[in-house]
Amino acid sequence: MNEVRWGLVSTANINKALIPAIRASRRGKLVAVASRSKANAEAYAQEWEIPQSFGSYQEMLDSGSVDAVYIGLPNHLHAEWSIKAMQAGVHVLCEKPFAPTLEEVDAMIAARDETGRVLAEAFMYRHHPQTKIAGEWAHSGKLGVITLVRGAFDFFLPKERRYPDSLDVRLVPEYGGGCLWDVGVYPLSFAQFIMGGPPDWVFGSQWTGKTGVDEIFTGQMGYSQKLDFSEKSSFSIAQISSSFKTPFHTFIEIIGTEGRLYLTKPFVGHHEGRTMTFCPKNGEPEEIPVPEKELYLGEVEDMHAAILDGEMNYLSLEETRNHVKTVLALYESAKKGEVISIR
Ligand SMILES: NC(=O)c1ccc[n+]([C@@H]2O[C@H](COP(=O)([O-])OP(=O)(O)OC[C@H]3O[C@@H](n4cnc5c(N)ncnc54)[C@H](OP(=O)(O)O)[C@@H]3O)[C@@H](O)[C@H]2O)c1
Repeated sequence: MNEVRWGLVSTANINKALIPAIRASRRGKLVAVASRSKANAEAYAQEWEIPQSFGSYQEMLDSGSVDAVYIGLPNHLHAEWSIKAMQAGVHVLCEKPFAPTLEEVDAMIAARDETGRVLAEAFMYRHHPQTKIAGEWAHSGKLGVITLVRGAFDFFLPKERRYPDSLDVRLVPEYGGGCLWDVGVYPLSFAQFIMGGPPDWVFGSQWTGKTGVDEIFTGQMGYSQKLDFSEKSSFSIAQISSSFKTPFHTFIEIIGTEGRLYLTKPFVGHHEGRTMTFCPKNGEPEEIPVPEKELYLGEVEDMHAAILDGEMNYLSLEETRNHVKTVLALYESAKKGEVISIR
């Protein structure tokens, strides 16, 4: 086997990002799409020039036509369909957030262990050169001791996606809706990457919208672990925010005792104006060059390396589990109005 045959589980909007990435990859081929409706699947296959279409997800999994699937379903269906895919012998790249409960994440990991299939969380930005360069700066000690990581992912969810007949899955509580699950997980996972693990404690606050999900969420996270590059034991903070009620805005700022690194648009493609600047403690700000790379290509190539070459996925399931654990603690904190310890 020297090529991975991909299938899309659903006709989700986000497929638009994955389709060009699979097609741009060296060892991947998009062969099928499945939808809950056969007519929908056929129309989608025609529009996107996909050879096969299926009127049910299970039918595609059982067809023998696909080696791997991309799961871009609403959050509450991630675990169910990841597990069904692995049980059918198919590898899985599943969208973030992996699942809205730790029980489901553990069931997904157990299915991976039982079936020997590859399973990974689709956090595309983690594979981008900018994120890796920022990690090198932080972990090599160039920024000194990291004291603070700040970050945001805000956008405005349009009015037309707020009516009952066109309600966005992000606004449905039982679908794992809410802005922290949807986009707060980006700065949260970035902070976890920089800090080398989950926080010791969290404090969250939320503004709840009409449908009962958080439409603005801010979180503070405390880390007391000793970071590898320093002799000193350090205490660091991360502050994150996410919103469905703010014009689009994303950034990450990593602050250390020797300077700070500022990333504009760390979670979007190059064409949208990605930059990285180092502001030293003393001296002039310096622009750090970032190699261009199609944003979603890295996660697809990572799956190919795992499936075809037997390599470990770059983003471990331990990290993924910690993302979910931290989100759940932040929601608990916002509900109780208390600091929650998570270690
Ligand atoms: N990595 C990223 O950049 C990124 C960006 C956006 C979203 N996402 C993630 O991708 C996932 C999907 O988001 P999206 O905005 O693409 O969603 P979406 O457009 O609403 O699509 C979800 C799809 O799931 C299927 N589905 C099955 N059961 C459903 C139900 N009960 N209600 C609604 N749809 C149902 C539908 O496809 P069929 O009708 O064809 O079966 C639908 O098209 C989420 O987990 C989200 O967090 C990731």
